[in-house]
Amino acid sequence: MISSKIEEALNRQIDLEGFSSMYYLAMGSWAEVNGYKGVAQFLYHHSDEERMHMLKLFRYINDRGGRAIVPPFAAPQKDFKNIREIFDIVHSHEVKVSNEINALVELCIQEKDYTTHNFLQWYVTEQIEEESLARDVIDKLNLIGEDKGGMYLFDRDLATLTGQQGGGKGHGGHGH
Ligand code: FEO
Repeated sequence: MISSKIEEALNRQIDLEGFSSMYYLAMGSWAEVNGYKGVAQFLYHHSDEERMHMLKLFRYINDRGGRAIVPPFAAPQKDFKNIREIFDIVHSHEVKVSNEINALVELCIQEKDYTTHNFLQWYVTEQIEEESLARDVIDKLNLIGEDKGGMYLFDRDLATLTGQQGGGKGHGGHGH
């Protein structure tokens, strides 16, 4: 059984993961209508992953005698300057998510909830990957700069990266 304090904190994380899913969906839609099909594919996939992060929290809260709630999600930004802005936002957003996960871990220690602490370790590991992936993409963009041909290849590259993400990260679809 989880305490109401932990239940509330995990429900706030549901809000953040669900919002992340909508956010990346909005970015994907912008990329798609602006001719970046590969970037769109990458962001749609990322959006699906965030929904999976949210769902994992739903199941955990309910399994542990709490109740997962669907929050009223804030509307995400829908217009972006360029691809660079999108990935800068992805990176800073993931840093924010990592900070929230760390705060949750800290709360579990304070509350002596070692079961939830254990459950959250998956998210701690996941955040290392998420931040490093966003940084890798920004590194690529830095190399390309304003080069149009480079952007064309970058878009194709991201479509490839999407294919590798599913298997390589070991949580491609279900079971979480
Ligand atoms: Fe679910 Fe990108 O953090």
